[in-house]
Formats: sequence, structure tokens, C-alpha cells
Amino acid sequence: MTKTKPSEKYKSSEESFAHSTQSLNTFAPRLLAWFATNGRHDLPWQQHQTDMPNPYIVWLSEVMLQQTQVTTVLPYFARFMTSFPTVQDLAAAEWDVIAEHWAGMGYYARARNLHKGAKQLVEIIDDTGDFPQTLEGWEAISGVGPSTAGAIVAMGLHGYGVICDGNVKRVLTRWAAIDGDIMKSATTKELWALAIRLTPVEHSGLFAQAMMDMGATLCVRRNPNCAACPLQADCLAHAQGREMDYPVKAKKQPKPSKFSNALMIQNSNGEVLWLQRPDNGIWGGLWSLPLAFIKKIEGAVKTANTVAEDKPSKVASNVKAYEQVYETEFTTAEQIIDEWLAKNELVTKSVTHDLFADAPAPIKHSLTHFHWYLTPQQLTLNDHQAQEITKILQAAEINVNWLNASEAQETLGLPRAMVKIIEG
Ligand code: ADE
Ligand code: SF4
Repeated sequence: MTKTKPSEKYKSSEESFAHSTQSLNTFAPRLLAWFATNGRHDLPWQQHQTDMPNPYIVWLSEVMLQQTQVTTVLPYFARFMTSFPTVQDLAAAEWDVIAEHWAGMGYYARARNLHKGAKQLVEIIDDTGDFPQTLEGWEAISGVGPSTAGAIVAMGLHGYGVICDGNVKRVLTRWAAIDGDIMKSATTKELWALAIRLTPVEHSGLFAQAMMDMGATLCVRRNPNCAACPLQADCLAHAQGREMDYPVKAKKQPKPSKFSNALMIQNSNGEVLWLQRPDNGIWGGLWSLPLAFIKKIEGAVKTANTVAEDKPSKVASNVKAYEQVYETEFTTAEQIIDEWLAKNELVTKSVTHDLFADAPAPIKHSLTHFHWYLTPQQLTLNDHQAQEITKILQAAEINVNWLNASEAQETLGLPRAMVKIIEG
């Protein structure tokens, strides 16, 4: 591997940094000395010190760690490595199986990207004989952004790579008192330039791991442990007692809220009807209770109106995006059930409306683009009815299962929202 500083686009002059050359130059040695004695060295995906690093392991773990904490990721990572020890195994796996392995970790787009990325990687390996060897090569893989690519090149290939993820941004905005909104591209550029300046050309993998540990264990979001921090002496936020003012992040637009019934349709044995969700859309490939959409409340009506005055086209495209969510939300299976329940007069109204006055409180589940309020609704069928709806669904090639709550939890890949409903 050649080890040169990447990204001309983030080039900066020394004067553009808030710190002296002395401070900038000692950052890495201080951090690495702290890491050597206080860092985590036993994480199963750590490859920065192995002789033959495995980029598959680093890629897989980094995607998992993008939005999920280490302690949560550990058992998932272990199961993935057991079931899919190589990228070829992952590429060849059925989506259902991957979805079940991912169930409960959330942000399912990552699991889709893993599957797609595995196929892309296998193609590259078949063509070239090896994994991509450059940042650009990795950034071309689904779900791999510049920071993940940097981590993979640094830790998985022992090349030169720079990371600048959320944790690194928190550390650097504090250390250098960077006031810009971290969602703005000018701030992103400034942070990348600083990260590149601080990352040593040798041992960038070790440095990456050390930065991650700093962000995860010392310079945490609430109550950073500045007393134990190797950067305390010249941390500009700490000097002013303003650690908690960083990073600056503009308040997000509130998400819309959606309300659905989660139908617990029981048979005479007390088993509940579970449906496997279609591959596309929310929770693709996972098992869920049939959901019946009730209503949606916009989270950002005011903003949309404000935008409407100067940019009507933007609002129109927003509205369209919402409508698309509606369509994919009501699956074929759910439509079949809705119609069947109405036809059999098992409900007085369409299940797309609030049916039962004495319904329990909904559980709240927040997804990337909306809050979802799911109200469990019980309904019991006789044997004939249970058989009939099963047959109708199976005729439509929908996978169904009648299982009690604990069986479902043990044997099906359930999204966390379903676990919350079962556990009440
Ligand atoms: N977060 C992102 N990548 C990580 C890693 N390799 N180790 C610990 N935490 C992380
Ligand atoms: Fe973070 Fe405190 Fe260290 Fe500054 S001194 S980098 S705020 S832990």
C-alpha cells in the first residue's frame, strides 16, 4: 500500500487551524499513549495489529457500528461471523436469512447495503483477485461512505485511511472549539481537514481505533471525562468549560407520526398470526403482526408552509415522498386481511380505522423518517376462519405462521417494535 495523505479537496494551510503546530503534532502521540494503556484491545473485529488483516471483518463490523453501540453489536457480529464467515457466504445468502440475523438492530437499510455490498465485493474479487485496495474502491460499495472507507483502508488493509464519523466530530469540535453546524458542508470540510492533519501517516489504523475509543469512552456526549483526557491541556472547549456546547447541530425538523393497529389475530389455540414482510419496504423479510394504518400527523407542517412561499416545487416533492411511504406501508397481505375481516364482519369498520374503544396504549417506535405508534388489537377467530385466512394468504404466496408470543420471539426474526408489543 502507498501511504500518502488523501483528498486534495480537503487540503488546508497550517494557519487555518485553531491550534499551534506543536499542539497539532502532539495530538496523535498523546492519543496513542492513552490508547495503549486505556483503550479497548479485545474487540473481536480489531485488525489493526494483526499481521494479515481481514477487510471483510472490518467492513462488516464498521457497517454494524455505524448506528449501533459496541455492546449491542457484539452478539450480532458473532452470529454473522458464524453464519457468514466469508464475504462469499454473505453474498450467497438469502435475504430472509440476513434479515433474521439483523433483526433487532434497526436501520435495516444497512443490512440491505451489506447484502448488496457483499455481491459487489465478490464481483470485484472474482475480477481482480482481491478486495478493493483504495478509498475510492471502497466508497463505490453500497453503504460505505468516506469515513467507513477510511476505517476499512486503515484497519482492514493497513493502508492510510482517515475516519471522521460522529464520534470523531464530537471530539474534534470540542478540542478545536469548532462552532459551525456539523450538518453543514463547510463544517464537514473543516472537520475532515483537521482529521487529515491529525492522522499520522504510519499507524492510521491504530489512530482510528484510538479516536473511536476516545469518543466512546472519554469524550462522550454527556459528562465527558476531561480529567482523564490526553487532550485536556489544549482542549479549547474544556478551557472555557463549554464541552457541552459542542458539537453544534441545528435542530432537526420534527418527524411525522404515524398510527397503526398491530392486529393480534388469534386462533382457538391462542396462537397468533404472523406474516413475513415483503423484501421491499420497512422490515423487509422480517416477521410482523399484520399492521393496519390509521392516520398520520405531519411533524413539520409549519416548515413546509414556510418553504411553500418561495419554493413550491420542493413542497410538492416532499408530499410525494410521504405518499410513497403510505403505499409501501400497507402490504398485499395486510390488504387481504383487511378485506377478509370486513367481508366476514369480524370488525364493524375497515381496520384502517380505530376499531376498538378499549384498546391498550400504543407502543412508540421511532424509525429514521417517522415515529410509529402501534396499538395492539386482539381478535379471535374460530378454527374454520383461521384455516380460511391461512389458505387465502398462502394462495397469495405469503409466508404465514401461527405461533404464541414466546415461540415467535424464539424462532422468527422479529423487528424490535414487535418484541416491544409482545413484551407489552
Ligand atoms: N465504532 C465504529 N467503529 C468502531 C470500532 N472499530 N471499534 C469500536 N467502536 C467503533
Ligand atoms: Fe473531550 Fe474533555 Fe478531552 Fe476536550 S478535554 S477532548 S471535551 S474529553
